[in-house]
Parts: sequence; C-alpha cells; structure tokens
Amino acid sequence: MPDTETARLWFARARHAVVLTGSGVSAESSIPTFRDVKGDAGGDPDDDTTMQALWAEFDPQTLATPEAFDADPEMVTRWYDWRRLKCLGAQPNPGHLALAELQRRAIADGRRFTLLTQNVDGLHQRAGSTGVVELHGSIMQWRGVRTGVSADPPPGPFDTYPPTLPTGEPIRPSVVWFGEMLPERAIAAAFEALASCDLFVSVGTSAVVHPAAGFIHQARDAGARTIEINPDSTPISNITDLRLVGRSGEILPRLV
Ligand code: OAD
Repeated sequence: MPDTETARLWFARARHAVVLTGSGVSAESSIPTFRDVKGDAGGDPDDDTTMQALWAEFDPQTLATPEAFDADPEMVTRWYDWRRLKCLGAQPNPGHLALAELQRRAIADGRRFTLLTQNVDGLHQRAGSTGVVELHGSIMQWRGVRTGVSADPPPGPFDTYPPTLPTGEPIRPSVVWFGEMLPERAIAAAFEALASCDLFVSVGTSAVVHPAAGFIHQARDAGARTIEINPDSTPISNITDLRLVGRSGEILPRLV
C-alpha cells in the first residue's frame, strides 16, 4: 500500500489524532521558516528587504529574546510588526486547509482531533481549524510589558516603536521568546492530548525546540502510531512509523 494511503487510513481510523505543526506548514504561504536564511544586510530601516535582512542576520535565538527587547525595543518591535503584517497579508495554503478539513471530519464522526502549533501566524485558525493550541503564543496579540494588559494591534503598522498602551507602557508581541516559559494552559492542553492520542503527526517542524521536540516520545508512550511529513530529515525521522517526504501543502490534501 502506498505510504499516503496508509496515512489516510490511519487518520480516518484514529480515535484521537494529535498534529504538531511548525513553520514549514506556513512556508508555502510565503512565510519564511525559522531557520531559513534570506536577504542582505544594510539599507533603509523601513524597507522590506532590511527587515528581511534582520531575519538573515540574527539567529532567532538572538532576536527572539527578552534581552534583545530590553536592549533595542524599537528594533525588535519594528521587526515583529513587520512579521505580523506579513502574516496578515498571507493566505492559508492547501496544507492548512487540509488540516482543518481532517478536523471537521473527525469531529463529525465523533472522534477527537487536536492541533498543536509552534506557529504564531494565526493561519490555522484562518483556515478553519478550531481549538488550536498555540504553544508559542500569537503575533496577532500584544500586551503591556509590565502589566500584561492586552492590546489589539491596528490593521496597519503601529504609529511608534515600541508601541505603547494609552498609559505609556510599552507593549510587546504575545509570543514566547527564548528563555521564557510556554503558556501554562497550552502546555497542559498539549500533555493531556498526547497522553490520550492514538495517532501523532509531526508536520513541517525541525523537531529541535523543546518541549515540542519531545512530544513524539510522549505520544509513543501512550501507544500512538507516528507520522512525519517534511521534505528533509529531522532528529525524529528515524523513530517515526511512517515518513512522508515532501511539502505539507502537497501531502496533507492527499490525506483528506
Ligand atoms: P524550523 O525553521 O526549525 O523548521 C522548519 C521545518 O520545516 C524544517 O524541518 C523544514 O525541512 C520543514 N519544511 C520547509 N518547507 C516545508 C514544507 N513546504 N512542508 C513541510 N515542511 C517544510 O521551524 P520550527 O520547527 O517551526 O520558537 O521551529 C520551531 C521553533 O523554533 C519556532 O516556533 C521558534 C523557533 O526558534 C520560538 O520562537 C520559541
């Protein structure tokens, strides 16, 4: 039986499928993955290529930190706002849409389907997925750095960087930076789902950032079958039951 047919059957029969996604799922919506390198350094700070160059110049572990924000809140918030607007301008791709459809079918059939994502771009929700567990927060939500008061970003760019609450308190994106705790509710929801799943699927993630990198082991401990969908091999490729090598936007629609 071809591997995609096996995966399709596993999805159709799973009493509780848990899917973990990473930035590879949004790559086909033209949002660069975390470890992509693009652009050249230098130029006008308002220029798109310059913001893209920041992506190339800085290891995400350097830019996505509370230390980077403290050192240069203008640069960090300007960059995150550029990312936010890029995400708003992007459209869900066939991979996002297929995951939403797989969830709809599972629920209609009285089965569970949990989507865990490391992505902060909101594209799964826009594709129709529900109850999405956002492990690394959301770039669409911002909050006061001291009070945590939430602030709705405007449809276009902020007026100032760092943007502020009416009280003058700077705001930051509600994403998880390196060295910060994951949202407690998201992590609890993920562990609960993993403990009761019978199918675990890792899509478009390099599977190197914890705790998501360890989810496959929790799923295996629960007795789940495992699938990886990725054009490249990752640290978990050797332990998955089934490996579908290719782009998520092409493979996922074939599993519906
Ligand atoms: P990475 O950039 O580490 O990995 C993206 C993965 O997607 C790679 O394994 C690629 O091979 C794969 N990929 C690329 N194009 C693909 C496609 N069209 N279809 C399927 N897969 C594709 O991104 P993440 O694994 O999401 O954390 O990174 C995880 C976390 O590390 C991020 O959430 C972020 C980062 O540093 C924080 O910011 C806390």
